Amino acid sequence: MTAIQRFKVSKAGAPDALEWTSEDLAGPGEGNVQIKQEAIGVNYIDIYHRAGTYPLPLPTGIGVEGAGVIESVGAGVTAFAAGDRVAYVGGPPGAYATSRHVPAGRVVKLPADVSAQTAASLIFKGLTVEYLIRRCYAVKAGETVVFHAAAGGVGSIASQWLKHIGATVIGIVSSEEKAKVAKANGCDHAIVSKGGDFVEKVKEITGGKGVPVVYDSVGKDTYMGSLDCLAPRGTLVSFGISSGQIPPLETGLLTAKGSLYLTRPSIAHYTAKREELDAAAAVFFEMLKKGVIKQPAPKVYALKDAAKAHADMEARATSGSVILTP
Ligand SMILES: NC(=O)c1ccc[n+]([C@@H]2O[C@H](COP(=O)([O-])OP(=O)(O)OC[C@H]3O[C@@H](n4cnc5c(N)ncnc54)[C@H](OP(=O)(O)O)[C@@H]3O)[C@@H](O)[C@H]2O)c1
Repeated sequence: MTAIQRFKVSKAGAPDALEWTSEDLAGPGEGNVQIKQEAIGVNYIDIYHRAGTYPLPLPTGIGVEGAGVIESVGAGVTAFAAGDRVAYVGGPPGAYATSRHVPAGRVVKLPADVSAQTAASLIFKGLTVEYLIRRCYAVKAGETVVFHAAAGGVGSIASQWLKHIGATVIGIVSSEEKAKVAKANGCDHAIVSKGGDFVEKVKEITGGKGVPVVYDSVGKDTYMGSLDCLAPRGTLVSFGISSGQIPPLETGLLTAKGSLYLTRPSIAHYTAKREELDAAAAVFFEMLKKGVIKQPAPKVYALKDAAKAHADMEARATSGSVILTP
């Protein structure tokens, strides 16, 4: 048994729905590893889980990303051993904890030069960017793309990686301060907008042509404008709903707006197979090593202050990555 502290949610709601508890953790079951966590990534999906936007069976743990050292392994685990430095992406929520169990299938070993804090602040978001810009819609050099929340955790990595590919990046952000962050990360243009009023500016920048792809994680407030930014046969990658759920959409709208494509992808499906997770992680770590993705210091909160981290993120007061340290 290991004495641990963790957050759980028994009733979905505001940040104070996060309940701090002390428990004893038995050894890991078959196929699982036990990780002593050194850093935990905060992702917007944690807010959807806490608030019930993406409903989970309750009570539930919270958090889908962390990094640390393996304490012990369950039966059948051969790829990892006690003492390995690792990070993980996805699996059952429960990262907001001092130690926890994770299915070995979601775990990757950390390169020696990648710290736990760097991994926890980047790996979930970095692997998201990997599948979004290389596999969901493969961006080519010379293309112009629109990326919403460009100064956020995912957006900061995407801006750097897209620039490296040779794309022209139009980032959308909510303040002049965030516009500076987006530009520093490689956005060629940063449009300041809090709602749907970005279409005219995108049209201006593209000489009226529109873009082949829009990456939209904002949802309700922006999806219609995002469709209007697309060139004929363009693709809307709707990968988040930070402003709320998108209402049911008439498929005829996609025809009317130019034979458009719409996809609503999840990292879970793009890294479900062990070989996909390994390949995505290898590409991502290579981007880190080459310095394509430079990590400004993440905003660090003590694990116990997770509710404050959530409140700040929901208030759009954060840029870049946010992590918790036990
Ligand atoms: N589908 C997937 O596989 C997948 C995987 C990872 C993340 N995601 C999604 O990617 C998005 C970014 O995730 P992240 O963890 O890196 O978060 P983040 O971008 O650091 O934070 C969310 C950002 O969304 C923007 N936003 C726009 N409207 C908002 C509103 N009404 N309320 C709050 N924020 C609003 C804010 O940026 P501005 O202030 O600049 O508008 C805010 O900073 C999230 O929607 C997340 O769910 C999807």
